[in-house]
Amino acid sequence: MLNNKIIIITGGSGLIGKEIIKDITKKNGIAINAEINLKTNLDLNEIQCDITSEDSVNSMLEIVLNKYHKIEGFVNNAYPRTSDWGDKFENIKYSSWQKNVDLQMNSVFLNCQKVLKIMKNQQYGSIVNIASIYGCVGADFSIYQDTEMSNPAPYSAIKGGVINFSRYLASLYGKENIRINCVSPGGVFDNQHPVFIKNYENKVPLKRMAKNFEIAPAVSFLLSDEASYITGHNLIVDGGWTAI
Ligand SMILES: NC(=O)c1ccc[n+]([C@@H]2O[C@H](COP(=O)([O-])OP(=O)(O)OC[C@H]3O[C@@H](n4cnc5c(N)ncnc54)[C@H](O)[C@@H]3O)[C@@H](O)[C@H]2O)c1
Repeated sequence: MLNNKIIIITGGSGLIGKEIIKDITKKNGIAINAEINLKTNLDLNEIQCDITSEDSVNSMLEIVLNKYHKIEGFVNNAYPRTSDWGDKFENIKYSSWQKNVDLQMNSVFLNCQKVLKIMKNQQYGSIVNIASIYGCVGADFSIYQDTEMSNPAPYSAIKGGVINFSRYLASLYGKENIRINCVSPGGVFDNQHPVFIKNYENKVPLKRMAKNFEIAPAVSFLLSDEASYITGHNLIVDGGWTAI
């Protein structure tokens, strides 16, 4: 249970984020959606926020502190990306690589640095960074055969970076009673190309893609006091993808 803990989720309107918000609320936490794609409505705990803008992150945190005076949990979940995200490796422009690293990884640094300052004052907190199986293992390109889909090269660097950055922070902030962990989902069903789905299902031990609500309970667990001795961990929720 999350016992009225104040928890911010970035990108909480998306496929996985909306289920994280539902699960936290179901477990009696107070979930605040920090999302680029909405209008601020404090009654609904929704704050318009662009995680790639320092001013926007500062103002979002100020709004939360004014209302609740504390931040006990923070989930880095938002998924900003450029319009050419997913280009084949040979075609990726250097500027696009740089931009995606900036949007997706540097924003995790920005949020963590600011939230950890607040949590250090409280001497309490839990951060969960949403990574991916593709931050743990290389891609299996055979599952994209006969589709227009590809596995974005920068994703491997970004999510691998987020996982090890989380370990760094766990080590640095353990003495402040703050835990930092990752959740690494496998592929979540989202009406992808039927050939891709079939290929994915053939390979993964549980023989199906994840449902979007199957990621959230792992996040809630790491945010809760039931995980009080878990830090620096990467909890993989992937139907066995990385087990083989
Ligand atoms: N979907 C999958 O199969 C999958 C698998 C592994 C990991 N993940 C990870 O899970 C997380 C969520 O992915 P998703 O599939 O729900 O993505 P999504 O695109 O459905 O949702 C992402 C949300 O982030 C918001 N967002 C985008 N840019 C933002 C910004 N600058 N500031 C604030 N919010 C912003 C979007 O508006 C959207 O609501 C991501 O970190 C992603 O890498 C997803």
